[in-house]
Amino acid sequence: MEPHRNVELKAHDPDPVRTLERAIAAGAEERALLRQRDTYFSVPRGRLKLREEEPGGATLIAYERPDDASERVSDYRLVPIADPDEMRAALTAANGVSAVVVKRRRLLMWQTVRIHLDEVRGLGSFVELEAVAEPASDLHRERTQVAELRLLLDIRDESLREGSYADALGARAGEPDPELLAMARAAAGRAYAPYSNFPVGAAVRTADGRRFAGANVENAAYPQGQCAEASAIGALVAGGGGAIAEVVVAAPSTELVTPCGGCRQRLREFASDDAPIHLADLERVRRTTTLAELLPLSFGPEHLAA
Ligand code: THU
Repeated sequence: MEPHRNVELKAHDPDPVRTLERAIAAGAEERALLRQRDTYFSVPRGRLKLREEEPGGATLIAYERPDDASERVSDYRLVPIADPDEMRAALTAANGVSAVVVKRRRLLMWQTVRIHLDEVRGLGSFVELEAVAEPASDLHRERTQVAELRLLLDIRDESLREGSYADALGARAGEPDPELLAMARAAAGRAYAPYSNFPVGAAVRTADGRRFAGANVENAAYPQGQCAEASAIGALVAGGGGAIAEVVVAAPSTELVTPCGGCRQRLREFASDDAPIHLADLERVRRTTTLAELLPLSFGPEHLAA
């Protein structure tokens, strides 16, 4: 089957209530309120994501799209997936995950244009217009429709966004919270590591903006030593607890320092699969990873709930 084509546009939406009112006034019809979770895989060409939708099902979406802020053309393929958990596990094992995008989408139709009013976790409100093209279309009709609807919804030039939500999240995930990074490095500087001479600092941030740091604490009875991550988690719990949204591990090492197996499990208790974990030395962040990558097929609190 030939890929489908869209003419589409994405924009930040400073006022989603007003946009919805304008869309209805223009004659758009509400079709659905959806919860979507898109897992993007690291692939060498184009983009590949597994969309899991409520209500609905799961679809594998492969597409290529030039990153262009104004109306653009996208080629894509949709493959219905019967077993999303297995598909996600297989593609994660083969490629790795580059981003997970969670959103609530209000879907409306205006003529043959799909209007998406999206609330994207961690990014905010967006509006997307998608005109699905007939196979032989020269795209003139689709471009005209998108341009007309853009005027009706008052989508300004400065609101237009290039790239996917995954790119936008990745750009943020790529940059650690500067304060968190500084706290982890400072903790490494105060570590008690006279036996290994391997000081480590860790810092965790909660979604509501609280930050906690800890250092490794060694002991003359060697097995009693404690990792920096465990110390930081202790500080988090003492400070009120909560879910971990971001982690920094910092060590003055020329090698990449990753959390040990035990600490991966400790983090698993409080951090979601996709929370960024930045691995840093004193000069730079050497790598940003996630628990999904560090601890696949993991066991956590929800497994005890059943
Ligand atoms: N260590 C940590 O604190 N965190 C890590 O992620 C790796 C290892 C500590 C444990 C021990 O005190 C020292 O580094 C050498 O293993």
